[in-house]
Amino acid sequence: MWVQRPAALRALRGLVVCQGRRLSGAATQQHGSGKNKEKRDPRVLDSMLPYLVHYYGNPHSRTHAYGWESESAMEKARQQVASIIEADPREIIFTSGATESNNIAIKGVARFYKSRKKHIITTQTEHKCVLDSCRALEAEGFNVTYLPVKKNGIIDLKDLENAIQPDTSLVSVMTVNNEIGVKQPVSDIGQICSSHKIYFHTDAAQAVGKIPLNVNDMKIDLMSISGHKIYGPKGVGAIYIRRRPRVRVEPLQSGGGQERGLRSGTVPTPLVVGFGAACELAQQEMTYDHKRISLLADRLVTKIMAEIPDVVMNGDPVDRYPGCINLSFAYVEGESLLMALKEVALSSGRFGIGRFTTEEEVDYTVEKCIHQVKRLREMRYNQDKRRPCPGKPSARAPTSADLASSSSSAPESWTETPSKNSDATPTPVGEDICSITFSELPLNQTIGSFIL
Ligand SMILES: Cc1ncc(COP(=O)(O)O)c(C=O)c1O
Repeated sequence: MWVQRPAALRALRGLVVCQGRRLSGAATQQHGSGKNKEKRDPRVLDSMLPYLVHYYGNPHSRTHAYGWESESAMEKARQQVASIIEADPREIIFTSGATESNNIAIKGVARFYKSRKKHIITTQTEHKCVLDSCRALEAEGFNVTYLPVKKNGIIDLKDLENAIQPDTSLVSVMTVNNEIGVKQPVSDIGQICSSHKIYFHTDAAQAVGKIPLNVNDMKIDLMSISGHKIYGPKGVGAIYIRRRPRVRVEPLQSGGGQERGLRSGTVPTPLVVGFGAACELAQQEMTYDHKRISLLADRLVTKIMAEIPDVVMNGDPVDRYPGCINLSFAYVEGESLLMALKEVALSSGRFGIGRFTTEEEVDYTVEKCIHQVKRLREMRYNQDKRRPCPGKPSARAPTSADLASSSSSAPESWTETPSKNSDATPTPVGEDICSITFSELPLNQTIGSFIL
């Protein structure tokens, strides 16, 4: 299944590994582990180094050559960022990341138009920085509608239409969800917003560089982008703000008026240069990366599902970015599994896999995961045998043979056994089966989130 990476990058990867040091995104060969979060691409670091060492001018100082060099590097980066979303470079404002961009978009638009419009629409599954920005606005007297999502994690467009009020100024819906990878119908949302003359903001931190985006075709008025989600540096990002028709935003920061007065503060030249390079690379390699990551994701899910019964993949099986997989394992206590998988999983329960992850690392992660889930289920079963259920003396706990076989063989007395269907509704486990502790974990509690 292997997709051949361009020769230049293979050579680069080899170099980084040979040196025995992880300068960049190359995954560790030493432990064969899948512990590989979004990393900086070594080519991004190369682009940044001259601006960390030689070119130290302030990009906003117009009176000397040092400033011009930095300014021209900053403008090239702006062009690279604009290009990946088909925007005009003048519509790109550099920020410290998607958190700041989301704050500027939501609070900035709401406050600018507050004399006429006091209502905002978002969804219940947005990133915390969007939800908290909305909460802050509620405290200022704005009204916010938090749209629910359907079982597949996607909003119902009828709910959106119904939520629109005469005083709605902004709709904010993320492009790709950071927990379950589902794609919201961004083009349809853009169309609805534009027909109601409402601004549309999307948090595209998980989408830019991963899927093709065109702010004009999709009728997006504001978009948040993060550098470190595309193998660029941390601490840098951008907000796209449409110029025609012009979207007005009240700046959050007072100061020197940089970035068209919308984001005061000196732009960090090395970071934006790296961010620009990361965008250019992502644009060039998007098709390749997408194909390769899809294959790795399929490998991971297929192997886990083949070996462990009662695993549910959350989120829509089709409308999704393949690199973000979210699995729920029934009959295992979440905390225990996370502890057992500490070597490959991060504390949040995410297995980071990305541009530099190998098949070997995926297999290693899968093997660990299968082993630990089976072990923990076995342990719970043995504990339950020693602690009979007071209300249900006859309830039969699963045998290891049960556990190894498909979910259809699960004894009825366990609980409502979840289907193995990937789009099945996660089934919270009721009180009456608390004695069957294999079933203790509510299935909608995520404990395995694979971000590729
Ligand atoms: C969907 C989404 N929005 C916003 C953010 C915050 O981005 P940043 O770290 O650039 O502030 C993240 C980062 O995890 C994200 O996944």
